Amino acid sequence: MFSNNAQKKVVLITVMIGGILCLHYLTFPELRYYHAVYRMLFYMPLVLGSLWFGMKGAVYICVSVSVLFFPHAIRQWQGFSFEDFYRLLEGVLYILIALTLGFLVERERKKQRALVRVGSLAAVGKAVSEIAHDMKTPLMAIGGFAKQVFEKLEPDNPDRKKLGLVIQETAHLELMVKEMLDFGKPVELQFTEVDFNKLVSDSVRVAQPMAKENGVELETDLAPSLPSVFLDAPRVKQVLLNLISNAIQASTAGEYVRVCTRLNSDGVVLEVVDHGGGIAEEYRESIFHPFFSTKRGGTGLGLGIVKKIVETHGGDVSFRANREKGVTFTVWLPLRPER
Ligand SMILES: Nc1ncnc2c1ncn2[C@@H]1O[C@H](COP(=O)(O)OP(=O)(O)O)[C@@H](O)[C@H]1O
Ligand SMILES: [Mg+2]
Repeated sequence: MFSNNAQKKVVLITVMIGGILCLHYLTFPELRYYHAVYRMLFYMPLVLGSLWFGMKGAVYICVSVSVLFFPHAIRQWQGFSFEDFYRLLEGVLYILIALTLGFLVERERKKQRALVRVGSLAAVGKAVSEIAHDMKTPLMAIGGFAKQVFEKLEPDNPDRKKLGLVIQETAHLELMVKEMLDFGKPVELQFTEVDFNKLVSDSVRVAQPMAKENGVELETDLAPSLPSVFLDAPRVKQVLLNLISNAIQASTAGEYVRVCTRLNSDGVVLEVVDHGGGIAEEYRESIFHPFFSTKRGGTGLGLGIVKKIVETHGGDVSFRANREKGVTFTVWLPLRPER
């Protein structure tokens, strides 16, 4: 349950609490000043436990000290004397300090984790876009030359098939490089007033060939009379295309993907509903993380880009499993950016 290091810490805290309890139980109850000093010693394991194990550590120590100290407290009880109240107050203070310490340590830890994540993501983004940038030109050259040679070959030439594969795989690599470049690019939005339904229908039209290739039907269900929305049209189109292509890739031939829009109190909602294999429980936490992919040849950057673009618009993206089959991705965007 614990790592080696954590085990040592647990042992140290247990020895400390055990030692202090021994001092209490082995010293005559009348030696009040000794006991007062020993009680102060209980703060040592509390501070260490909270620092090392956060709220959980603080609560465990608080509970175990209270339970193990209880018989001794009873032994010293004088029937609501001034000293009894003082000791009770000390106990309450101990619990309050434990909870405050636990809370503060957890909050700091969360902040630190978020900072590290943002920092490392920025570094990864930079490295990825540098690599992608260097890969872009040679890839385009390979694809271009391969196409030129392909067109010159006789239709019955046996090398045509191999060259066809080269062209196909290069196109796939170019797509990956594009995703990598998009991932690394800082999102600087250019807001314009946009007809949201038109943006959705345009994106669906762009995705239509891909759907056809996979035997998947693309449907739309657009809310009538949506107000216009201020957003960065090319970037939101990218969000739509990433979500639709994921939905198509998750579907098997014969299934359909539905793209819906509706108005909500202060923004527009977009839903991409598929009836594919769904997302396994163990992957639910990871799908928005960069480079997480369950696909052969997937970059795992699509949803990371989606999240980044939507959040820079002040919006929100989430997903849920459909009752029957597949998943629904929901994007909410405010009607206009907050100033
Ligand atoms: N509609 C969906 N249905 C099932 N799984 C999905 C869907 N959309 C995303 N996923 C899961 O999330 C992962 C990450 O998606 P994404 O970031 O777009 O990367 P990629 O498409 O390159 O794998 C996918 O590999 C897949 O496992
Ligand atoms: Mg994808």
